[in-house]
Amino acid sequence: MAVFNAPDFDNHEAVVFCNDPETGLNAIIAIHDTTLGASLGGCRFWPYENDSAALTDALRLSRGMTYKAALANTGRGGGKSVIIGDPRQLGTPELFRAMGRFVERLGGSYIIAEDVGTSPADMAHVRQETAHVAGLEGASGDPSPATALGVFIGIQAALKHQRGDDDLKGVTVAVQGLGHVGWDLCRQLHDAGARLVVSDLRDEITAEAKRRFGAATVGIDAIHAVRANVFAPCALGGSLNDQTIPALKASIIAGSANNQLAEARHGDVLAARGVLYAPDYVINAGGIINIAHEGADYDQAAAFDHVRRIGDTLRHLFRRADAERVTPSLMADRLAREVLDKAAGRSLAA
Ligand SMILES: NC(=O)c1ccc[n+]([C@@H]2O[C@H](COP(=O)([O-])OP(=O)(O)OC[C@H]3O[C@@H](n4cnc5c(N)ncnc54)[C@H](O)[C@@H]3O)[C@@H](O)[C@H]2O)c1
Repeated sequence: MAVFNAPDFDNHEAVVFCNDPETGLNAIIAIHDTTLGASLGGCRFWPYENDSAALTDALRLSRGMTYKAALANTGRGGGKSVIIGDPRQLGTPELFRAMGRFVERLGGSYIIAEDVGTSPADMAHVRQETAHVAGLEGASGDPSPATALGVFIGIQAALKHQRGDDDLKGVTVAVQGLGHVGWDLCRQLHDAGARLVVSDLRDEITAEAKRRFGAATVGIDAIHAVRANVFAPCALGGSLNDQTIPALKASIIAGSANNQLAEARHGDVLAARGVLYAPDYVINAGGIINIAHEGADYDQAAAFDHVRRIGDTLRHLFRRADAERVTPSLMADRLAREVLDKAAGRSLAA
């Protein structure tokens, strides 16, 4: 298995392979970049097909965290960890304590948090071995409301850029996925006067959205194609692809899902169709901003004010993308690299 020559290796500062035979722990911690501060990123627990798939995920996700943290101005760097296996079989308190000991050995250069397959309760076990944990129960709490606020503000920024007006009254938003983020986003959009069209795998939640918000409901295969001003993907990644993009009627894409573009080239396809895309890692940074504020002096109002600055970041990004004739997703990467280069004192011309 190649590491330094792996396709997703991007000058990561450290890649640590963790093994604890007693608990069955096999994990990889990837620290991508600590130029802006200690690396922060969740711990994914997943039955990867093989070690190489786990390494790819750790390398790719940790790099994404660096870019996300840089544009969200969190004073954190990018890292991520993956535990290989089925969390239902292996996820014991002892295994999480073993993971905590590995995090502790890194001396604070990696701060672990929950992610797919792990929970705040698991992080409480990690906490018994190390203080370098975020997202604990009773600390900054569930990050989803902060993420939903960031997406709401991001939708307004996109509307303002495209139409010169961010009023949501009479604007139709198609929301894909009514989970932790999607539901709270619907609530805010409804309160602001938007019309909603929603879709979810769970019929009971779409029925509730109909009752509470007067939302229209459609099947999961139709949500991307409904007549709406904004399409907000808040379910899984990859919803913008060769099948869905030709059917889009919305002229703005702004949602919380990670990795919305099935492939990077889909950013160009959207731009060619005149669709304004709010890059996922910029608009969905509310949760990580909230977590980065965690500490003894956590102040939710200050954290949420910080989340609202996602609007300024997106407005700036859209303007520069237009001026430099690049797509918003390319512009996001460019801006993130500028932040990192400036902090590292590297020449931007280099
Ligand atoms: N929670 C956060 O703070 C946060 C932060 C950043 C990014 N995200 C991303 O935002 C997305 C939503 O996160 P969440 O915490 O609300 O997740 P969640 O699991 O609570 O909700 C996801 C919802 O999507 C629905 N769903 C799944 N497949 C669907 C499909 N094909 N069509 C329609 N609905 C479908 C599920 O039934 C569920 O209700 C995820 O991609 C997540 O990675 C979340």
